[in-house]
Amino acid sequence: MAISGSSRISLSDRNNGFPGPTIRPPVASTGFTFKLFASILAIAVFLLLTVSFVFTSSSTVVSSGLDIIRLESKQTITDQLKIQKLKDTVFAVNEQLTKAKKQGAFSSLIAAKSIPKSLHCVAMRLMEERIAHPEKYTDEGKQRPAEFDDPKLYHYAIFSDNVVAASVVVNSAVKNTKEPWKHVFHVVTDKMNLGAMQVMFKMKEYNGAFIEIKAVEDYKFLNSSYVPVLKQLESANLQRFYFTTHLENATKDTTNMKFRNPKYLSILNHLRFYLPEMYPTLHRILFLDDDIIVQKDLTGLWKVDMDGKVNGAVETCFGSFHRYSQYMNFSHPLIKEKFIPNACAWAYGMNFFDLDAWRREKCTEEYHYWQNLNENRTLWKLGTLPPGLITFYSTTKPLEKSWHVLGLGYNPSISMEEIRDAAVVHFNGNMKPWLDIGMNQFRPLWTKYVDYDMEFVQACNFGH
Ligand SMILES: *[C@@H]1O[C@H](CO)[C@@H](O)[C@H](O)[C@H]1NC(C)=O
Ligand SMILES: *[C@@H]1O[C@H](CO)[C@@H](O)[C@H](O)[C@H]1NC(C)=O
Ligand SMILES: *[C@@H]1O[C@H](CO)[C@@H](O)[C@H](O)[C@H]1NC(C)=O
Ligand SMILES: *[C@@H]1O[C@H](CO)[C@@H](O)[C@H](O)[C@H]1NC(C)=O
Repeated sequence: MAISGSSRISLSDRNNGFPGPTIRPPVASTGFTFKLFASILAIAVFLLLTVSFVFTSSSTVVSSGLDIIRLESKQTITDQLKIQKLKDTVFAVNEQLTKAKKQGAFSSLIAAKSIPKSLHCVAMRLMEERIAHPEKYTDEGKQRPAEFDDPKLYHYAIFSDNVVAASVVVNSAVKNTKEPWKHVFHVVTDKMNLGAMQVMFKMKEYNGAFIEIKAVEDYKFLNSSYVPVLKQLESANLQRFYFTTHLENATKDTTNMKFRNPKYLSILNHLRFYLPEMYPTLHRILFLDDDIIVQKDLTGLWKVDMDGKVNGAVETCFGSFHRYSQYMNFSHPLIKEKFIPNACAWAYGMNFFDLDAWRREKCTEEYHYWQNLNENRTLWKLGTLPPGLITFYSTTKPLEKSWHVLGLGYNPSISMEEIRDAAVVHFNGNMKPWLDIGMNQFRPLWTKYVDYDMEFVQACNFGH
């Protein structure tokens, strides 16, 4: 779909019954106005696409399993390609924005939320390959490897919609472990990226490591009658919150934009609260974000004495910073009564979970209790860290800091020694290594593990 002064982009067929705005891109000749409108268009289209995915993935609990192409009608594939095309449009607008070189909070928010063209291209090529050769990538009729459920092996959970980032995490972990054949990586993505993920991880060998690829829709128990976040997503209240885009004020409203980013509610983000049910045979699992790099053998984590605690994590507080009071509303009586405001916060990104202790302490129920109370966002505003801090308040075991070094996505002053000694480094923050705004001094830590020799990666000029 070309962007021109007269083209209209109607998204009403993709937004699942919500009133779809019709957006008219402006004529390119009027400099500032164009940039302004380009920004608005980019945000509006991007938000709509993302939200429509969240809704599609959460409300349609697909009947079965791994093979979306086989189970769903041709129409769905066509829809998916259509969505990709619409996304192309968004990228075209983004390119205009990049040219405009508009600095400041607003443009960096856009940059932080969008996927660069080359990354999008890789996902698209992988999906094409998946559609062209379904027989090569299907798991249908094949025995589920017993290793996937073997509690004696080292298990990892990676939840991501970014094929390259997820593969980089697995590549780095496999490369730096002594006995890869004892490690099992459970990658869960959304319906739209399932095909691309399947192809990505079937393209090469991982020195004997096991990789399971699933879509979040494969977990049937994650429906809106069980999962508060899904219920809340469906509630009319929230729909209004996400869909009321006051276009005229959008450029000024950067704080609210952050709250409106549907990423903060995506079920993929909240999957971390369902680990014991997703992996019922396992006793322990290591949760990894998709913006981390593994630099050392991590099996030592399985030897850490957890003292009966559920969540092994590194603490992040220093001075008066990163205390509980910064993450939740201590004016609320329920919060005030239950928590100490200067309790030290910890980080998500690399968390070692004792699933037996989790089941014993009923942490999922605890999370549900608080997430239900937060329907109106009066306890905390956004994200998974506040409910995590609440859920694992008395059940977190602090880990030695070198296990997990944070801040490579926002803090340029982390020392190279600290990074070198870290078992895991984390690009938390907006400046992801796969984005143009990523910090050049840290980027090589990540690009080192990109499969540049892979045909799809080459074809898309990734990293150039
Ligand atoms: C939702 O999940 C629960 C278990 O978590 C299950 O008992 C129930 O049947 C599911 N409902 C639907 C409509 O699938
Ligand atoms: C935009 O902001 C102005 C002033 O802050 C306000 O008067 C107006 O109602 C806002 N428009 C919308 C649609 O929210
Ligand atoms: C949220 O607000 C709505 C309407 O204002 C109210 O009906 C509902 O009970 C509130 N929910 C909670 C959990 O406080
Ligand atoms: C914090 O909680 C109090 C008491 O429920 C409420 O009045 C206030 O609006 C909340 N603050 C925020 C920012 O939601």
